[in-house]
Amino acid sequence: MTAALISGKQVAEEIRADIAREVQELAEKGIKPGLAVVLVGEDPGSQVYVRSKEKTSTELGFHSEVYRLDASTSQEELLALVNDLNRRDEIDGILVQLPLPKHIEEKAVIDAIAVEKDVDGFHPVNVGNLVIGDDSLLPCTPAGVIELIKRTGMEMAGKHAVVIGRSNIVGKPVSLLLQRENATVTMCHSRTANMAELSRQADILVVAIGRANFIDASYVKPGAVVIDVGMNRLDNGKLAGDVDFESAKEVAGHITPVPGGVGPMTIVMLMNNTLTAAKRRRGL
Ligand code: GUN
Repeated sequence: MTAALISGKQVAEEIRADIAREVQELAEKGIKPGLAVVLVGEDPGSQVYVRSKEKTSTELGFHSEVYRLDASTSQEELLALVNDLNRRDEIDGILVQLPLPKHIEEKAVIDAIAVEKDVDGFHPVNVGNLVIGDDSLLPCTPAGVIELIKRTGMEMAGKHAVVIGRSNIVGKPVSLLLQRENATVTMCHSRTANMAELSRQADILVVAIGRANFIDASYVKPGAVVIDVGMNRLDNGKLAGDVDFESAKEVAGHITPVPGGVGPMTIVMLMNNTLTAAKRRRGL
């Protein structure tokens, strides 16, 4: 059997069209969602992501501001910018691209972002609300993962989901969102003893470990939905996921490609969060 491809690119385009329609409706009320993106330094990967966020935001008709700051920017200067963006009414969403240079404490910066403008969903209050199950701005990549699983038509309730990776950005929030969908969740990580055995029990397998082509068919239950969050740059310049696609697709029921899987969803969920923040701040 060969798995059905889950095209994140196509799903992202559909969601983007929905967002564009809502932005149009808001424009008729004189409202324009505003997104500020802050990049400190010249990390090549971050530069690509920030350009892509700027482009999408502008194309959707958002008010878009991008701050490209020198790598030598002090923590105080960055916090001053964040505080200024917190106060400004035309800004609904603030995203500080990570990683930050070593001399800046990421936690201090994330904590400084106004909770209602935290479109990354990284602020401890938004993380706490996610744990409790209250309304919060959801982290973009995990929200995109859940959306892709929904689009396969699979009912998540009662299914066994295995999440490989326990990062704050992906693994932990994905596991919480899967629980919210009433899946039974197992979390695996670098110290898990019997990972392949656990992984082979997964009806839904989400992989976010940052190791190219690590998960092959021997980790996959026949018919499983496999979501690959990995984005690894190989020596030959090509992008590879954490899942060995050619091997896993022979066993899985549905599988995401890299590129064109989770990646396009992350940006569109960021735009969706900005739209949500813009509406909430105006009581809509
Ligand atoms: N760096 C890698 N992924 C992300 C993300 O989702 N948000 C931010 N702010 N930085 C990142």
